Amino acid sequence: MAQTLVEHAVDIIRSNDQGAYTVPTHGLYPFQWNWDSALTALGIAFYDEERAWVELTTLMNHQWDDGMVPHIVFHKEDEGYFPGPDVWQTKRKTPTSGISQPPVAGFAARKLFERAKDKTRGTAQARAMLPKIDAWHDWFYRCRDPEGTGLVALIHPWESGRDNSVDWDAAFQRVPTDGVMPFQRRDLQHADASHRPTQAQYERYIYLVQLFRSLGWDNAKLHAASPFQIVDPGFNAILIRSCSDLAKLADDLGEPEIAARNRARAEKGVAAMETLWSDAHNQYLCYDRKVDQPVDNPSIAGLLAAVAPIPPNRAKEIGERILELGESCRYLVPSQPATSPHFDGKRYWRGPVWLIVNYLISDGLKCAGEDGVAQRIISDSLELISNSGFAEYYHPISGEPCGGKSFTWTAAMVIEFMTQSDTQK
Ligand code: DGY
Repeated sequence: MAQTLVEHAVDIIRSNDQGAYTVPTHGLYPFQWNWDSALTALGIAFYDEERAWVELTTLMNHQWDDGMVPHIVFHKEDEGYFPGPDVWQTKRKTPTSGISQPPVAGFAARKLFERAKDKTRGTAQARAMLPKIDAWHDWFYRCRDPEGTGLVALIHPWESGRDNSVDWDAAFQRVPTDGVMPFQRRDLQHADASHRPTQAQYERYIYLVQLFRSLGWDNAKLHAASPFQIVDPGFNAILIRSCSDLAKLADDLGEPEIAARNRARAEKGVAAMETLWSDAHNQYLCYDRKVDQPVDNPSIAGLLAAVAPIPPNRAKEIGERILELGESCRYLVPSQPATSPHFDGKRYWRGPVWLIVNYLISDGLKCAGEDGVAQRIISDSLELISNSGFAEYYHPISGEPCGGKSFTWTAAMVIEFMTQSDTQK
């Protein structure tokens, strides 16, 4: 009998399982990545609740003393990846990178807790997780929003997960490359060069790593010192949603102070998101803090914002904008509009469709009652999987699979799409 999509997805996650964490895919990403892991925990919970909690716990065990949760945990040595621990030099017992990633842990922990069949274990695990995630949220607002605007800035594109988005192009012109170490990229041994960031972008990624390393990874200094400071609506929306979900989890667990702190962060964040809205583009835009100007590019960051409890009129407008994007591409939601002069349908975040973003957008739109658009995004996502397999990302017009193969979080999202219908904000 043919394997169902869900069975295939479970096999992929199991094949990438390292015992206490899951690699995104063998070869290209041989360690634990932060938001990959937290979203993967949702897929694992479908077949092994205990292992799902382990995934999140392993990630949070590598939290720094200041509250930061790093974007990569280098559990084992692997020569096949660059930049490895010798470049980051964060001096952790188990080496980690020195920057963070979209904080989906609060969102994931609430879902795991509410779906738990073993309520005793779910309560104990969620209770252990609560102060750690709260400290991570506090870290973001303390270190990345020093002026208390309600919105945090990214200091490295890798923090967004959208490494080579068009959103960073103008800011990257201001990131120098002097003194960048000679290096050999490893990603091109595992993936097609036309699907990946360019050499010029990699030099700037490494410049920023070297700069932050020279400051001893002291988060009291990094935001001010960084030539790259971008307020990303998608990233902020994930943080806001996680604060709001953590507040609800804390209510359920009888932790009113954690609940109040996170509710206040979410409310302030939602109000501040309005400053990123563009009437001209009918969506949110990034904001470049260094030059005090919006980034005039209608990327998926401004649509991912739907994952937060934004006002209903904004969710509706985002839904309309997404349907409009569908007029120039076959599969929603492209990371850059297919009509944009910068569109590149195979190159990472400059056009391709990513299932994790589709999942987060559709979850938010369902919460806002925009079910029609949400369903269209879900059916496009599943059609991509049926036609092109479990890739890292897909060309939004041809559906061609791109990047890494047998990809963990893509598999986890398929399990979510096919087995869950809970969506609350
Ligand atoms: C990579 O190596 O491509 C990652 O996206 C950085 O985290």
